[in-house]
Amino acid sequence: MTYLRNAWYAAAWDNEVAAGQLLGRTFLDQPVVLYRDEAGKPVALADRCPHRFAPLSKGKIIDNAIQCPYHGLRFGASGACVHNPHGSIPRAAYVASFPLLEKYGLIWIWMGDPDKADPAKLPDFSIIADHDNYAIVNGYLKIEANYQLVTDNLLDLSHAQFVHTFIGNSDSSDRNTFEMKVEGSTVWAYNNMPGEPPTKLWQLMWKSTAKVGDRRANMRWDAPSHLLLDVGFTDCGRPTSEGPSMPSAHILTPETEKKTHYFWAAARDTMRDDEELSKIIWKGIDGAFRLEDEPMIEDCQARMQTADLMSLNPVMLTTDAAAIRARRVLAMLVEQEQSADSTASAAAAS
Ligand code: FES
Ligand SMILES: [Fe+2]
Repeated sequence: MTYLRNAWYAAAWDNEVAAGQLLGRTFLDQPVVLYRDEAGKPVALADRCPHRFAPLSKGKIIDNAIQCPYHGLRFGASGACVHNPHGSIPRAAYVASFPLLEKYGLIWIWMGDPDKADPAKLPDFSIIADHDNYAIVNGYLKIEANYQLVTDNLLDLSHAQFVHTFIGNSDSSDRNTFEMKVEGSTVWAYNNMPGEPPTKLWQLMWKSTAKVGDRRANMRWDAPSHLLLDVGFTDCGRPTSEGPSMPSAHILTPETEKKTHYFWAAARDTMRDDEELSKIIWKGIDGAFRLEDEPMIEDCQARMQTADLMSLNPVMLTTDAAAIRARRVLAMLVEQEQSADSTASAAAAS
């Protein structure tokens, strides 16, 4: 599968990479080992020793370097071998190292050309690190499906009515509207659900005596698979600022063509000191993704057999508009990247 390489991908929540420990994870089909150096700075190296290809993530950290578990070569943060217990250091003894960025509570990895790793290319997820204004819970899931199927699921929230109990509403009316907007390479999907009873999630936070209110679920997508959702519930016809809102991040990183790392975080601006509520919300959201979305997407992936949805000529609904647009934008960016790479290699060869 051809991925967009010159982009930041979420590699881990920052607390998953702890001092003195190695974390092995695969991104874009490539095994990577993550750890923190003595100063606490995260490091990412290719997780394959160049001697007999042992996984470095099964080794240990010694003197600020990873010691291979097989014959003891040690590799430092730059990827260079810094110690050979059997003699001098061979010239070819190094592994690739990847640029990292620690931001918004996540460690982001750049799997493409290191010279192009620009922090400005990361979409804004400041809300999920804004602890002054929000109470925030987060989680991680592994989904056995292509990452674009998960993007499709998130850009088409019409499934919530059928799939979800805690965050969906089977009473959703046919007055629901779906709209889509494209700004540069950002795709927006707007879903307004006027005059409906609150979902179980909003029953916890909407303090109105009315029986129905206006619900919204507006999703922002940026390539390759980084989504920010704004959901909220207000009294009918009132400005959205009057009701509780819950922005959430849904950040997907392909592990392989049929496996996806799913990092999520949900921030609420209401009842922020209520820790019991935080636990209920974490459980409800984790359950919605793990027990409702995940099995559905995995079943679809299993039926499809291929990771390439479009090769199966799927039936299209109006609610698919944003997802299809995001797929087109991503395909265009991948194509541009590939043709720039081949132009660069042709120039280098001539
Ligand atoms: S496989 Fe790593 S030192 Fe031999
Ligand atoms: Fe869902």
